[in-house]
Amino acid sequence: MINKLKFWKTSKENDALEERINALKELPMPKHVAIIMDGNGRWAKKRALPRVAGHHEGMKRVRRITRLASKLGIEVLTLYAFSTENWKRPKSEVDYLMKLPGEFLGTFLPELKEENVRVQMMGYKDKLPEHTLGAVGKAITETEHNNGLILNFALNYGSRDEIVRAVKNIVHDVKKGKLTEKDITEANFSNYLMSHSLRDPDLLIRTSGEIRLSNFMLWQLAYTEFFFSDVLWPDFNEENLVEAIEVYQQRSRRYGGLKSEGVEE
Ligand code: IPE
Ligand code: IPE
Ligand code: MG
Repeated sequence: MINKLKFWKTSKENDALEERINALKELPMPKHVAIIMDGNGRWAKKRALPRVAGHHEGMKRVRRITRLASKLGIEVLTLYAFSTENWKRPKSEVDYLMKLPGEFLGTFLPELKEENVRVQMMGYKDKLPEHTLGAVGKAITETEHNNGLILNFALNYGSRDEIVRAVKNIVHDVKKGKLTEKDITEANFSNYLMSHSLRDPDLLIRTSGEIRLSNFMLWQLAYTEFFFSDVLWPDFNEENLVEAIEVYQQRSRRYGGLKSEGVEE
């Protein structure tokens, strides 16, 4: 049994969700869930609000979804917060997005610490403003000894660039004599990626109805189960995460073999 969580207005709805959450615990949980949090702009547009209002609401959902992921015993939650392509957006929107990690962690870091969450970041530090790096760096340091959920923010992350840099670093290490050609294996290649300390995602969720990866974890998602939701990220709630995991638990992961193994134990 996990601690009681309050999700809905009526206790009946709450109980129904609690029941589904408890049922999830009977089957293997995805250990690493990655989410492409998309649809903030459309959420705001539907309400005749500026796009940044959608980003702010989306930030609050990060807290709710993190709380549930943590209660469910998920080991890693990777959240795509800003891509290397998102710099193409208007400066005012980029500036706002760069302030969100500071606001999020300024508000929620004490709670995250209490919940034993460990904050990490995956992305290029160059180009990120000092204040963003400062806020994230502080959270990383202050939670580095926690051993609960790893909350991994993909911030200024781009997968093709990550792969190209991995290749360059491998070439560098070969030239230095630290590595030989036969050392270059799939496992070793993974060590050169920014996700090197993490297992590959078991479940990828993308919100807002877009069916694409947008340069997210191309190598790591090779055998991940995908769940696409039409819900816009600022509307994505506990029930939506529960549904994604329910669907995941019904999948049969074969990894190219013939045997239907069900989800990984
Ligand atoms: C996702 O929402 C957040 C980021 C990409 C930073 P969007 O801002 O992409 O929202 P839409 O896709 O325009 O609705
Ligand atoms: C992907 O969403 C990046 C993040 C969610 C951070 P985008 O909104 O940037 O993706 P495209 O442009 O629709 O592919
Ligand atoms: Mg988008």
